[in-house]
Amino acid sequence: MPSLISTSPAATEALGERLGDAVPRGAVIALSGDLGAGKTQFVKGLARGLGVTSRVHSPTFTLVNEYGGGRLRLFHLDLYRLETPAQILSAGIEEFLSPDGVAVIEWAERLTDCGWQISNLKTVKIEIISESERKIIYDDFGA
Ligand SMILES: Nc1ncnc2c1ncn2[C@@H]1O[C@H](COP(=O)(O)OP(=O)(O)OP(=O)(O)O)[C@@H](O)[C@H]1O
Ligand SMILES: [Mg+2]
Repeated sequence: MPSLISTSPAATEALGERLGDAVPRGAVIALSGDLGAGKTQFVKGLARGLGVTSRVHSPTFTLVNEYGGGRLRLFHLDLYRLETPAQILSAGIEEFLSPDGVAVIEWAERLTDCGWQISNLKTVKIEIISESERKIIYDDFGA
């Protein structure tokens, strides 16, 4: 899997933008990494690469934020508050696992014990190396 060292929020966003430009319809992008790793930063770039112009912020009080206006519709989920498989299974996220557009999921680690088979899954892992450095390991989207 390709990886890169990002040394700034802008560099993480730029990778998101490049992948957003290439991502195919129906893809589910599983984002993992600790608090403050840069997952939301990556999604901002992803949205830009898809041509979404509205401001991206993480869904905190809702399960999903939806962004239209781009090449594909973007569904942005954050599972941080769903701590157990039971909570995840009852949250209603299944429809977003075969999205009519692209779904990107923060805290996708939380899906591991749910037993779902996700086709079109792409993974992006962000590791904190230092205050400004991140190692990003990602599935290339084939373009
Ligand atoms: N190379 C980098 N890439 C991304 N973010 C960076 C980088 N260096 C520093 N940062 C900072 O790290 C923070 C990343 O915040 P962000 O909200 O994107 O993280 P997150 O992974 O979504 O966190 P959470 O788990 O709370 O949702 C920002 O404050 C950003 O400025
Ligand atoms: Mg976030």
